Parts: sequence; C-alpha cells; structure tokens
Amino acid sequence: MMVKKIIGIMAVDPSGVVGVNNRLPWHYPGDLDHFRKITYGEIIVMGRRTFETIPQNILKDRISVVFSSNKLSSYFNRGIRCTIVSSMREFLSIQSSWNYSQIFMIGGAQTAHLFLEYDLISEFIITEIHKPYKGDVYFNLILLDGWNKTILAKTKDYTICKLTRNKDEGKSCEIRSIS
Ligand SMILES: NC(=O)c1ccc[n+]([C@@H]2O[C@H](COP(=O)([O-])OP(=O)(O)OC[C@H]3O[C@@H](n4cnc5c(N)ncnc54)[C@H](OP(=O)(O)O)[C@@H]3O)[C@@H](O)[C@H]2O)c1
Repeated sequence: MMVKKIIGIMAVDPSGVVGVNNRLPWHYPGDLDHFRKITYGEIIVMGRRTFETIPQNILKDRISVVFSSNKLSSYFNRGIRCTIVSSMREFLSIQSSWNYSQIFMIGGAQTAHLFLEYDLISEFIITEIHKPYKGDVYFNLILLDGWNKTILAKTKDYTICKLTRNKDEGKSCEIRSIS
C-alpha cells in the first residue's frame, strides 16, 4: 500500500516534555507562527486529546483528522469538521483518497509514538525548546536517535530542526503489512 509523505511537527523540551494539564507547557508565539505557516491549508493528523485543546482558529484553516476509539464522543459535535479514524488500519485505508501530496502529524505523544512505531514518518520538524519544563506528557526522544538533523532556525528560546530518516529521505514509504 502506498502511503503519502507524512511529516511530524512538534515542540519538545530537553527531556521530551510536550504537554502539561492537556496544553502546551510554554508559550512561544514565534514557534506557533512557524507551526501555522507550515501547516496552513494542509491535512493535520492528531490524537483526540490534542484535538480537544487545539484552538479553533488553527483548526479552521486546516483539514483535521483525529485518532479516537470513540467515534460518537460528544466532543465531535462542536461543529468542527474533522475526520475521525479509530485505528491505523482505517487511517491507512482512507489516506490514499485524499488529494494532497503530504500529511502533517502534529501530536500528541501517543499519536507520534504510534506513527513512529509503524515507521510512517519520513521527516520530523522538531522545535527543541531550550529550557526544561514541568510536564505530564513525554515524547520518547530516543525514537529519533540516528536521524539526520538540519537546523532550520535558532532563537534564544528554541531551535527548529528538520530530522530525516536515512533510509527514505523525502520519499513516500511502502507498508508491506499491517496488523
Ligand atoms: N509540544 C507539542 O508539539 C504538542 C503537540 C500536540 C499535543 N501536545 C500536548 O500533548 C498532550 C496530549 O498528548 P497525548 O499523548 O496525551 O494524547 P494524543 O496523542 O493527543 O491523543 C491520545 C488519544 O488519541 C487516540 N488514539 C491514540 N492511539 C490510537 C489508536 N491506535 N487508535 C485509535 N485512537 C487512538 C485515543 O483517543 P480516545 O481516548 O478518544 O480513544 C487517545 O486517548 C497535551 O498536553 C497537548 O497539549 C503537545
């Protein structure tokens, strides 16, 4: 099955913290602008917990795909248009019908781990937050060990990096089997 190019985009502190109390632990407007520019008009895939907290003004200019085991959750009746997928199998089976060349996986940690576990992400745009923050959701940074890193931008508060896998940099990947 051919899978579109999937690009991860997330911000992490030095120990992998990505969230606290169901929100971002930090507020860096410049990094939010970077996120908005890159994902504007694109398909963004996220977990239900991230969808619940992401501001509506971000959702409205993007096409949202949400992972959730509960398609009937009352949350999805807020009038926000989104596609709900209840498994990776379902996501993979419908993604080929989207008329887009790439998809952005925007988190949270559970969803990022799922996509990395299936080896579906060929590029990860990571904002490395310089200061440590208190958090309750962690991204497992070890999963990106060995990826090629290019620095895209640096400020006193954070560094934006592009990480690519050695084996299929910039290409769509082929899934042989999926359970
Ligand atoms: N720093 C960043 O860049 C960044 C980015 C995004 C989010 N965040 C933060 O991260 C936190 C949320 O992350 P999180 O890891 O707790 O949650 P998440 O990945 O946003 O969402 C988890 C939910 O996704 C659904 N899900 C996950 N795997 C699934 C599967 N295989 N099949 C079907 N559904 C699946 C489940 O929803 P159901 O429970 O409905 O079944 C699960 O509870 C928040 O604090 C948020 O602010 C940070």
